[in-house]
Amino acid sequence: MGRLVSVGLMGMALALLGERFLALRNRLKATGEVESVDLPNCHLIKGIEAGAEDIDILPNGLAFFSVGLKYPGLHSFAPDKSGGILMMDLKEEKPRALELRISRGFDLASFNPHGISTFIDDDDTVYLFVVNHPEFKNTVEIFKFQEEENSLLHLKTVKHELLPSVNNIIAIGPRHFYATNDHYFSDPFLKYLETYVNLHWANVVYYSPNEVKVVADGFDSANGINISPDKKYLYVADMLAHEIHVLEKHPNMNLTQIKVLQLDTLVDNVSIDPSSGDIWIGCHPNGQKLFVYDPNNPPSSEVLRVQNILSEKPLVTTVYANNGSVLQGSSVAAVHDGKLLIGTLYHRALYCEL
Ligand SMILES: *[C@@H]1O[C@H](CO)[C@@H](O)[C@H](O)[C@H]1NC(C)=O
Ligand SMILES: *[C@@H]1O[C@H](CO)[C@@H](O)[C@H](O)[C@H]1NC(C)=O
Ligand SMILES: *[C@@H]1O[C@H](CO)[C@@H](O)[C@H](O)[C@H]1NC(C)=O
Repeated sequence: MGRLVSVGLMGMALALLGERFLALRNRLKATGEVESVDLPNCHLIKGIEAGAEDIDILPNGLAFFSVGLKYPGLHSFAPDKSGGILMMDLKEEKPRALELRISRGFDLASFNPHGISTFIDDDDTVYLFVVNHPEFKNTVEIFKFQEEENSLLHLKTVKHELLPSVNNIIAIGPRHFYATNDHYFSDPFLKYLETYVNLHWANVVYYSPNEVKVVADGFDSANGINISPDKKYLYVADMLAHEIHVLEKHPNMNLTQIKVLQLDTLVDNVSIDPSSGDIWIGCHPNGQKLFVYDPNNPPSSEVLRVQNILSEKPLVTTVYANNGSVLQGSSVAAVHDGKLLIGTLYHRALYCEL
């Protein structure tokens, strides 16, 4: 019923399409350009040629990368290769990325990993949560990381009607997480229409084995999500609205919005520096180039750092920016102990010593 009404509304919205075209160009920042900001000690990571869309780093310096995302309408340099999870030990002097083995029984051929998040339990068990799009469906896979064997043991697949278009995830317990839906619908055509007419129906969902609920909504396209080191606040990137939302977390897991930071770029994944609480964001200065790939005019990369987001004047610094000659379509920037990793939607990944 709700869906029928929605579809009816969609019909009416069709009338608005022309007008919405210009708005969409703004939301995509079709004219955005970057001035290059270089970092001195960076190199491209060997073995990552077709995207490292999300990165999460454990306190001990082990970094996980989700690689090889395939998505309708999104460019891929390796369309026939299934996705995987790579690991890199940032404590090593010359860290290298190696692919983790995944336990038997898990369908590797359709593995299409998107956002990832780690959780360390009281007994030091490390869980890796992976948003997966097998055959373009939406699931969250929970793995146990087995460090001695460089492998992942698959524990559980989560599917839920409140997770129709999962993008990113932040794990807060062994079976508990917050996730962003970048769209309200899961049907590709309705998704496209939803974005075009700018419904602002994207949301954030809390999931636990006992309770699943929408805890924040009204986003244009909810993307990256992360949590402050003191676990009191969640940060949600609204990509097409160019906004970072700060939400306070309550004991019953509900969220209330306390602040919105407006930026001038498409904000994608959000990482937190555990030592300072600074927010690092992989950004797309020009979304149109990202979605309509032209090798002669590639998408740029941009990394922003936000300090003191709760203060009246948060300090926003462009740490890295490149016109695509080195790195195309940066989607995540994660830091650990003076090292910076920058991942991209479908291109390469950069390792930098700050
Ligand atoms: C990370 O970046 C990818 C690529 O843009 C994006 O689609 C995804 O939502 C992001 N993941 C997280 C965890 O934010
Ligand atoms: C908060 O959560 C409770 C139960 O988990 C729910 O019933 C209630 O509607 C929520 N309140 C708000 C303001 O979202
Ligand atoms: C990017 O910048 C480099 C110099 O930093 C320049 O040589 C190159 O032509 C530029 N590429 C594009 C696509 O603008």
